[in-house]
Amino acid sequence: MTVLRNFFQTPNNRSNVDVERLVSEAVTHDAEGERRRTFLNLRQRLADAFTPTRPLAGLKVELFGGNESASFIGRKAECLRITRALLEDRSHVVIFGERGRGKTSLANLVVAQAQTASFNIARYVCSTTSDFDTIMRGLFHDMSHWVSGRGRAGYGNDDGIAGLLPPRPLQPSDLPAVCGRLNGKVILLVDEFDRITDDDTRTAVADTIKQLSDLSIPVLFMIIGVSDSPEALLGRHPSIQRCVTRVALPLLKPAEVEQLVERGAAQSRLNFSASARTCIAELARGVPYIAQLLALRAGQAALDNGRTTILGSDLLVAIETAAIEADPRILVLYNLATNAERDARALSVLRAAAAGSQDELGRFQAVPDGLFMRVAGLQVDRAAWQRVLNVDAIRPVRGGCPDLFVFTESMLQQLVLLRTVLLR
Ligand SMILES: Nc1ncnc2c1ncn2[C@@H]1O[C@H](COP(=O)(O)OP(=O)(O)OP(=O)(O)O)[C@@H](O)[C@H]1O
Ligand SMILES: [Mg+2]
Repeated sequence: MTVLRNFFQTPNNRSNVDVERLVSEAVTHDAEGERRRTFLNLRQRLADAFTPTRPLAGLKVELFGGNESASFIGRKAECLRITRALLEDRSHVVIFGERGRGKTSLANLVVAQAQTASFNIARYVCSTTSDFDTIMRGLFHDMSHWVSGRGRAGYGNDDGIAGLLPPRPLQPSDLPAVCGRLNGKVILLVDEFDRITDDDTRTAVADTIKQLSDLSIPVLFMIIGVSDSPEALLGRHPSIQRCVTRVALPLLKPAEVEQLVERGAAQSRLNFSASARTCIAELARGVPYIAQLLALRAGQAALDNGRTTILGSDLLVAIETAAIEADPRILVLYNLATNAERDARALSVLRAAAAGSQDELGRFQAVPDGLFMRVAGLQVDRAAWQRVLNVDAIRPVRGGCPDLFVFTESMLQQLVLLRTVLLR
């Protein structure tokens, strides 16, 4: 612009046009365009840094290397356990934990490492209608990207690896033979296993695991699902105890959540103050999905207001938006448990459970305390506690842990915390 201004200001170039005004408009216009481009760029960076709607993709993750652009936080012990189980012990793996804890992200990371150790991976994501046959065919179908032309050696109708499968509903006893014909080491990743409602399908997968293990076939299952116990996911099968490694996914620690926000902030070039990070960590309570969501929405609110520094008002917008965007099922449950926020005692029970002391898996203790109950260390009304249990907002932990409870829907805890802030 200086060149342009000088050009118009040299006497020879003077005309009877209002040069000063034109230049000033051009400068303003140009600066505004530049500013808009900068903010668009920041928005894109923010959306890349905080990804609440999608799991982290393994290959893009640089783990524990101090890489500034990496966004995978923590999970060192779990990652080590799973890779050791698969790569060294040749054990099948079950990863279980509540919603949004990072199961798929962790699996992606492990898969990326397994691929560098020459494992081939096939994936299948279950739906409520998946049965044994669709799961196995789905996995074999996914193998077609790394195996080709083997079908002709099998049943023939289907091209590719899926042609190895018999053209009738599959049984566990079919799998050792076809898996034995796969070259090399294979991981069969089955995600969202909790969505399967049919017990026979779970049993058939467990039977397949047992048969592959007994025959030392180098095809390993990695089963992932929302659950607080591996038995609730795979069923009780004493015969597979020894050949399956069970990995519970704990909550992130508060410092890890703050680190998640800090890294994302550096990546998106926005400024989240220490108090903003702490506030997000307190509301997320170790759930990476919530941390990512609040950081993204707060960043967007700041950019909407032409700022790169996140203020308290941006966090409030983020909290409001996250509460509105909550799963409708969770909103229904919240309103049922609190009688649409009119039952103050039930609200106190939920707040105690959501904000009180919990273990690393998000479980809390509830014990009688005279005429009251002590929930997560806080005293609450006993009748209100019973009301909350009756509507199934909170339930006992499965697997014989006396006095230990969890939120039936883990995201209800976050909604309770978000609404608590908004009601103040
Ligand atoms: N270790 C981590 N560090 C940073 N962000 C993470 C981590 N793990 C998960 N996330 C983020 O949390 C969100 C949820 O992750 P993911 O989808 O892997 O969870 P999940 O347990 O598979 O959820 P669901 O039960 O709904 O399938 C995603 O936005 C993901 O980017
Ligand atoms: Mg998942």
